[in-house]
Amino acid sequence: MSLDDLYRQVIMDHYQHPRNRGHLEDASVAVALHNPSCGDELLLELAVKDGRVQEARFTGRGCSISMASASMLTEAVRGKPVAEALKMAENFRQMLQGGPAPENLGDLASLQGVVKFPMRIKCALLAWDALEKGLSQAGEKACPARNEVQNEENDGRPGSK
Ligand code: FES
Repeated sequence: MSLDDLYRQVIMDHYQHPRNRGHLEDASVAVALHNPSCGDELLLELAVKDGRVQEARFTGRGCSISMASASMLTEAVRGKPVAEALKMAENFRQMLQGGPAPENLGDLASLQGVVKFPMRIKCALLAWDALEKGLSQAGEKACPARNEVQNEENDGRPGSK
């Protein structure tokens, strides 16, 4: 079996048997995004506590690449410190821009072939965009004072409201 065939099998397995599909009762943040090029939607729910992604679940509808990527994401980030999850998102994004596949990506490495299909890159990144947005929101909730400081810093600057 070629590596391409193996990767295709991994993607289809996550698509047909998605991991962590469903809702979280104790979600800290929920991020709904859609892919503007096709209208497909994804809702990512995260339970973030003590600087760690305790749980991650998703729902939505989309192509095999987007749903498999979301399934792999939830497996990859569960239990990880927020900083590590964000680093993983950065590594994944770099891989889809043609960079090397980092060793610690696990099943996510199966999506590196997407780089050859620019229209599908958005599909693969949909869940990761939601992750980055969700972790940013979780950080803001955990430290609201940081936002107040940032808002004060913006006061008086050209272009600030
Ligand atoms: Fe819609 Fe992939 S075609 S997310």
